[in-house]
Amino acid sequence: MHESSRSGRRLHPLPLRIMHWVNAVVMLVMITSGWGIYDDDVIIRGFHFGSFWRLGDWAAWSLNWHFAGMWFLAINGLIYLGYGLVTGRFREKLFPIRPAELVQTVVDTLHFRIAHDDLTIYNAVQKLLYIVVILAGIAQVVTGLAIWKPVQFSGLVAALGGFQTARVLHFAGMAVIVGFLVVHVTLALLVPKTLLAMLSGGPRLGVSAPDKEEPAR
Ligand code: HEM
Repeated sequence: MHESSRSGRRLHPLPLRIMHWVNAVVMLVMITSGWGIYDDDVIIRGFHFGSFWRLGDWAAWSLNWHFAGMWFLAINGLIYLGYGLVTGRFREKLFPIRPAELVQTVVDTLHFRIAHDDLTIYNAVQKLLYIVVILAGIAQVVTGLAIWKPVQFSGLVAALGGFQTARVLHFAGMAVIVGFLVVHVTLALLVPKTLLAMLSGGPRLGVSAPDKEEPAR
């Protein structure tokens, strides 16, 4: 490899890592403060979140956290979407998803064959999960807008099927994101080199042997 490739782009460039970790912290704030707000007027009768899981001692405090966090979530998310589209990262990393590859990855995972030997390529399940969570994040902002300002966004509320439906959709979006997080964090801990790469930037693209490790199979 030429000298130029040693200074080449990293797998996770610095702006991406900053956006990812800002998003991780803000998402935790949004989820746990959302649970505090939920507890004041539950959607599923009898289902509450214990005080350990809630950010904010009472609903008004949870709302303050939620309203503060939403600006960081929306602005950071918009920058991430713009970055992914403009740099071609989404096209390069998240597409295409081939159904046969998806089935194969699920079968391999069920047989505990999680080989993430080449960090630079996301497998089909990873791609799908990332696309789902990105869409869920966008949906949370849209449904959140509807229940935050139902008068100003009355058209949006109507399009979503009414205030209560928008609220339920907002809750369902949270459940999708929490489900993703459980799988995502578990996999990051099971394959720690992915976590290190998301912290340090990972291998430089175009550099072969030294940065690639032995398959984990
Ligand atoms: C403490 C919590 C988190 C940890 C430890 C974590 C860890 C990681 C790691 C290690 C990767 C790289 C995966 C790889 O190279 O195979 C990654 C990528 C990613 N994570 Fe997380 N993550 C966390 C929170 C989140 C949250 C809250 C979201 C969104 C709701 C999220 C969405 C993503 C996405 C979309 C990518 C792909 C980014 C891209 O390549 O453009 N993560 N995460």
